[in-house]
Amino acid sequence: MAALRALLLPVRRALRPRPGCPARRPFASGAGFEYIISEKTGKGGSVGLIRLNRPKSLNALCDGLITELNQALDAFEVDPAVGAIVLTGGEKAFAAGADIKEMQSRTFQDCYSGTFLGHWDRLARVRKPIVAAVNGFALGGGCELAMMCDIIYAGEKAQFAQPEILLGTIPGAGGTQRLTRAVGKSLAMEMVLTGDRISAQDAKQAGLVSRIFPVETLVEEAVRCAEKIASNSKIITAMAKESVNAAFEMTLTEGNKLEKKLFYSTFATADRKEGMTAFVEKRKANFKDQ
Ligand code: CAA
Repeated sequence: MAALRALLLPVRRALRPRPGCPARRPFASGAGFEYIISEKTGKGGSVGLIRLNRPKSLNALCDGLITELNQALDAFEVDPAVGAIVLTGGEKAFAAGADIKEMQSRTFQDCYSGTFLGHWDRLARVRKPIVAAVNGFALGGGCELAMMCDIIYAGEKAQFAQPEILLGTIPGAGGTQRLTRAVGKSLAMEMVLTGDRISAQDAKQAGLVSRIFPVETLVEEAVRCAEKIASNSKIITAMAKESVNAAFEMTLTEGNKLEKKLFYSTFATADRKEGMTAFVEKRKANFKDQ
């Protein structure tokens, strides 16, 4: 009995409620999620749609929410019907950042030994394309989460910021890195050092966002984009995503080399053959993800 109690201790500790983030259910899945809603939509269920759903806290990203998000991403990643994913929040907030109430009493030792935020980057490692549909606030970790996605669509009233400086800290989930790569040094510095918010329009002009839509149609448009992506060959899409992402990690010469290798690799697939044959035969390609 004592041995069993000792075995269960770490599990009990992990499930203990923290301020701001109610107790996590141990094996949340599908409709059982508490902080997100995850469903399949689009033609043939080809789009995985994840909504952050903690509206009372403006979708503050507590540990339980990130854990559920990762579970939903894992499920879509291995689902052969899903070709692309849409990540969205509510109309008022995509996400207002990491949960400050949960973070407030953390110590350096807590953060360092527990690798705080270590599980946040699952989103950035998903191989299927992800479209972020951002309405309302995308602040701090919310902005960082959107930037881990491949495409950002914004609602007209969206606002982006890295306001951590106002809390006496700095972005901790890629904000200083991804934002700088997306909008350049001057605007990134201004946002990180002042905490000021930028509008959807400014975000588009700076290259952070690719398109802006009315608030009510944003998610529909993001799903439409994801559906279009999902209608292409999944294996070729994964290669295209890998190649574009390499531009952020490699020199131009290395990146071009990788692109060429992946380009040559497409010639080993049935889908490359089908795509070109369909063009020559003046018909629509029928990709088999092979
Ligand atoms: N963490 C925890 N709770 C949050 C939150 C957050 N990041 N943002 C909002 N909330 C909660 C509020 O505490 C409030 O809860 P109560 O009703 O229990 O008081 C509820 O959400 C509604 O918020 P407000 O009453 O403040 O709503 P508002 O419309 O007046 O203001 C806001 C909205 C401007 C977004 C404001 O809530 C705000 O400034 N939030 C904090 C934004 C922020 O600093 N984000 C960065 C977090 S740090 C981070 O993300 C680190 C990292 O890099 C990972």
